[in-house]
Amino acid sequence: MIFRQLFDPTSSTYSYLIASRRGGEALIIDPVLERVDRYIQLLRELDLKLVKAVDTHLHADHITGLGALRERTHCITVMGEQSGVDVVSMRVADGDRIDIEGLSLGVIYTPGHTDDSYSFSLPDRVFTGDTLLIRGTGRTDFQNGDPRAQYESLFGRLLKLPDETLVYPAHDYKGDTVSTIGEERAFNPRLQVKSVDEYVDIMNSLNLPDPKMMDVAVPANMRIGLAQETVAHKGWALSAAEARDIVGRPDTVLIDLRERSEREKQGVIPDSVHLPYPDLQKNLKPNGLLHQLAEAKAKRLVFYCAFGERSAMAVQAAQDAGLGGARHIHGGLQAWKLAEGPLTQQ
Ligand SMILES: [Fe+2]
Repeated sequence: MIFRQLFDPTSSTYSYLIASRRGGEALIIDPVLERVDRYIQLLRELDLKLVKAVDTHLHADHITGLGALRERTHCITVMGEQSGVDVVSMRVADGDRIDIEGLSLGVIYTPGHTDDSYSFSLPDRVFTGDTLLIRGTGRTDFQNGDPRAQYESLFGRLLKLPDETLVYPAHDYKGDTVSTIGEERAFNPRLQVKSVDEYVDIMNSLNLPDPKMMDVAVPANMRIGLAQETVAHKGWALSAAEARDIVGRPDTVLIDLRERSEREKQGVIPDSVHLPYPDLQKNLKPNGLLHQLAEAKAKRLVFYCAFGERSAMAVQAAQDAGLGGARHIHGGLQAWKLAEGPLTQQ
């Protein structure tokens, strides 16, 4: 496995770049906007293709690199389903998995620092965001933080992992880089409490100042979904209602870019073809499936995904590949459901 712990000194944030092999797919956790050039350089040096960028929660102390990485690498942006961020490509919930080639992250909902805080696990390590820090825990006094929920996330979820599990947090302010679950259980002062009430008392009496960047970072991080607006201005977007009227027409083919797990969970638009977003470039090659559908079979291509982000990027890529008739459903399956479009279960 390729594993890089990257540091942003301004916000003391750790970001993690993970891949199963050189030349393969990569994923990044908690990227920082100011460091995006460095990530891109490292991806190039290690010959990696970034396919997913994941935030553990909505950050208040730095601007996320999710939007910039999506623009520059066409990766899929991922956050938890509770997140208030306007558009991410894919939302995950407790028990889901985030897959890339050769690696599968477990998704653990660990609210408390914020109500959209998640931890992500590999067999030997866990990325704990701001839920569990080295000898500390994330503050719970803003962004719908809740010390009771955090106690449950810590004692009910993270501390149930095996003692030797490596702990990689989203921040460290003292220069520590990694810990273990066993070490934190034994030595983390916040975890030496006898009851949830004692924990709540500690967290409620911290009286911390707001993060310096909070007024800038939170609004910026709420709005990372810009790809769809650009595509709509170019006239390549169909509203869900418009799309509903053309479903089933012989000259149209709907293309579902989501992953299998999303299809199983959320349902599928009838008669749509499944071509997952990571295979898009292959399918857009001159003799690829999408050219065959559009040219040989004279079909109009209409892409869709969960929220319209992946499909907006797919329309742009299809147009770039010469498929001028390609469109997508603005707002994705979420808008489709609001427009009461039909769905079938997988
Ligand atoms: Fe945070």
